Amino acid sequence: MTHRDVNNPILFEVSWEVANKVGGIYSVMRSKAPVTVHEFGDRYTLIGPLYYKTAMAEVEPEEVSNPYMREVLEEMSRQGIRWMYGRWLIESAPHVLLFDTGSVSTRLEEWKADLWKVASIPSPPNDQEVNDAILFGYLVTWFLNDFVAREKNAAVIAHFHDWLAAVGVPLIRKRHIDLATIFTSHATLLGRYLVSGSVDFYNNIKSFNVEEEAGKRGIYHRYHIERAAAHCSDVFTTVSQITAYEAEHLLRRKPDGVLPIGLNAVKFSAMHEFQNLHAQNKEKIHDFVRGHFYGHYDFDLDSTLYFFTAGHYEFKNKGVDTFIESLGRLNSRLIACNSPTTVVAFIVMPAATQSFAVESLKGQAVTKQLKETIKDITEKIGQRIFEKAARYAGGDIVDAIVEPEELLTSKDKVFLKRRVIALKRGGWPPIVTHNMVDDASDPILNAIRHVRLLNSPGDRVKVIFHPEFMNSGSPLIGLDYEDFVRGCHLGVFPSYYEPWGTAPAECTVMGVPCITSNLSGYGGFMEEILETPADYGIHIVDRRTRSTEESINQMADYMLQFCQKSRRQRITQRNRTERLSDLLDWKIMGMEYVRARKLALYRTYPDSFAGAEAGEFESYIKAKIPKPLSAPGSPRIKGSGSVADDEEITEGMSNFNIIDEENEETR
Ligand code: G6P
Repeated sequence: MTHRDVNNPILFEVSWEVANKVGGIYSVMRSKAPVTVHEFGDRYTLIGPLYYKTAMAEVEPEEVSNPYMREVLEEMSRQGIRWMYGRWLIESAPHVLLFDTGSVSTRLEEWKADLWKVASIPSPPNDQEVNDAILFGYLVTWFLNDFVAREKNAAVIAHFHDWLAAVGVPLIRKRHIDLATIFTSHATLLGRYLVSGSVDFYNNIKSFNVEEEAGKRGIYHRYHIERAAAHCSDVFTTVSQITAYEAEHLLRRKPDGVLPIGLNAVKFSAMHEFQNLHAQNKEKIHDFVRGHFYGHYDFDLDSTLYFFTAGHYEFKNKGVDTFIESLGRLNSRLIACNSPTTVVAFIVMPAATQSFAVESLKGQAVTKQLKETIKDITEKIGQRIFEKAARYAGGDIVDAIVEPEELLTSKDKVFLKRRVIALKRGGWPPIVTHNMVDDASDPILNAIRHVRLLNSPGDRVKVIFHPEFMNSGSPLIGLDYEDFVRGCHLGVFPSYYEPWGTAPAECTVMGVPCITSNLSGYGGFMEEILETPADYGIHIVDRRTRSTEESINQMADYMLQFCQKSRRQRITQRNRTERLSDLLDWKIMGMEYVRARKLALYRTYPDSFAGAEAGEFESYIKAKIPKPLSAPGSPRIKGSGSVADDEEITEGMSNFNIIDEENEETR
């Protein structure tokens, strides 16, 4: 290896989802870009596949300014390779380089044979995804190889995300290309396949015959690409501890570190407004609930709490099975303790539907008509009061005031009765808002039926399955997802398989407490950084060491405790939750990327780090964020001896400092 400048390295980040939305990695790349651009400026380029239609919408082409890069790309053009270079039209507008794999498809067989020869990675004849991965991997390697052959001063880091973009990693290693590589697994392929089957995943994770399992599932070749990338990278990372554990056993290399997923906290930041936004959006959910429960609207909305879970329909992975079970138990417990609280639990997961259910639409229509009729009537009442009062011309003043019994005319009463009669309904309010294509065998519906949460009047827990993502144009809950979350009280994400888990992280930055699990990346991360997560509104269900039955009970306990909080306690807790936002921002989360890059450079160019110890980059200890300071800070009202009930303000101030200091430490 040559001696290169490791202080101003050039960074390429390679992913299939650069300017190309397929799954979750797209938002990771996109939301992380500003901090990486901030650190690297023009020395940062993202590399992805070229799909003309999406690229036209996402990328603004520009001249290649780096002379070495230009030379390499011009040469590649001469060889028939099509590429696009430009600015990704997102915040911070990073440089992107996209390769058209179609332009080199004639070389597929040659490269497949080479891959087998140099890296012993086999490839099947007709797997389009593997073919694309190979073509892309060879193009990226070609580009990087020729680039570092020209750029001889600066160290170069190539950071690959997930197997599909990572064929280049083993090639770089085998060809001894002079650059540092990082491979980040966002979930292992085999892990995903295994959990979607009926195996007891975590209890058997150490003993799977990985080759055989991959073969049985028809992913042998993909698995080998992923495994080779994990083993051939200078630094191997995952997005969470739980995925690190999975990778260690399924890919058979212990990751060097964890690169958690941050978010753009500023985007969600509502400053002191977030409590008001909660109240405003909750009103809109109230409107929906009044309509949905028409004819059985016999509970007090002021004592009603909104819980929700949301995401892709993965019944077991997302822990919806355990959520519904826990709701059943919560219902019994609330009834047993005669609680005045009602819980409305929403499950927002897209499933195949035909249309909105007539009953759901009708509920919104009848309450809307009632509201409009009452608006008309009250307007007329106002006019009558005004008319009578305005006609006062002396005499007994009482004669100028409308008597209460004159307020409603008999015509008004008829109108009103007609609207009220329309609120009568035969059955109980529906548990699903749409007509399902497969109502009888839908796992969520069946689980709800199994625990008998059928929205009957006696139930303290009501359930609404909304099998479509939220949308502000909907005639039912006319809210976008973000506003819906803000209006709720508690997000519930007790996942069984969740490499990271953005949904609870988003709740946190919006100041909405959540339940998560220690099998989710996010839950594990919070457990690691907070001394007492529950005090910050992060309730972590133990699904790792407890049985499913125990986890369900633990979750029901958390939910019951949440129901027993006063409004003031909920407000205080939301304040604490929201204060974690800064920690989840890429500005802090991105620090792990910085460390991973340092480690990759150190391992590749140890001579450039004279005097440094390996341990300096390889390990570090993070201090936990302590329990929030509690009550004694409340000011006493002078002379009265009573305690002013505003704990959250004083407590809030001191806590912020704690978090800030902590951030300084992790910096
Ligand atoms: C926010 C608002 C308060 C409101 C409260 C309701 O904090 O600023 O005005 O009273 O939400 O909280 P709750 O937990 O009962 O929905």
